[in-house]
Amino acid sequence: MISYFFAKHLNYNINEDLCYNEISSAPRKYWFTAKNENDGSLKFVGDKEDCQFYVARITKFPDTLNEVLKFVPDIIVKNSYVTKCAPGYSMEPHIDPNRETAIIVPLGNNKGDISFYYGGKRVYTYDYKGPTLTRVGVYHSATNPSTTDYRYGITVEVPGSYLANFLKR
Ligand SMILES: [Fe+2]
Repeated sequence: MISYFFAKHLNYNINEDLCYNEISSAPRKYWFTAKNENDGSLKFVGDKEDCQFYVARITKFPDTLNEVLKFVPDIIVKNSYVTKCAPGYSMEPHIDPNRETAIIVPLGNNKGDISFYYGGKRVYTYDYKGPTLTRVGVYHSATNPSTTDYRYGITVEVPGSYLANFLKR
């Protein structure tokens, strides 16, 4: 049951291929790098030197945005992104800035996993299977376990607490 405290699989039949194709073919200029701040939050910066984690605004991907909106019409578009991370990448444990809850849609064959931490210890790891309501207001880190493939995903902000979303979705 601890699993539900951190993550919940959502039965949204999102057309992942459509999203994957649109996102994986994005021009380089769409992508920004994200840096870990000392307080654990992420800061988006334009500098692309030696970085393995990238974000782009979901509004750059109209087909993907449209597809997500079919299932989650209440997303906060301006705080919603698509992500790309390099083979073998493992993010520092962090708390997302300004949000407690996110819906993550990992794409393609390489969905990766996410770990949650309490008191500096890893307490739970979830292997992504599809769209997932995720508690991002606690320390967490995503990894790309593949040694060869980039990992692509969608991360959207939704209003309300984790519990409220858990009960509603
Ligand atoms: Fe995060």
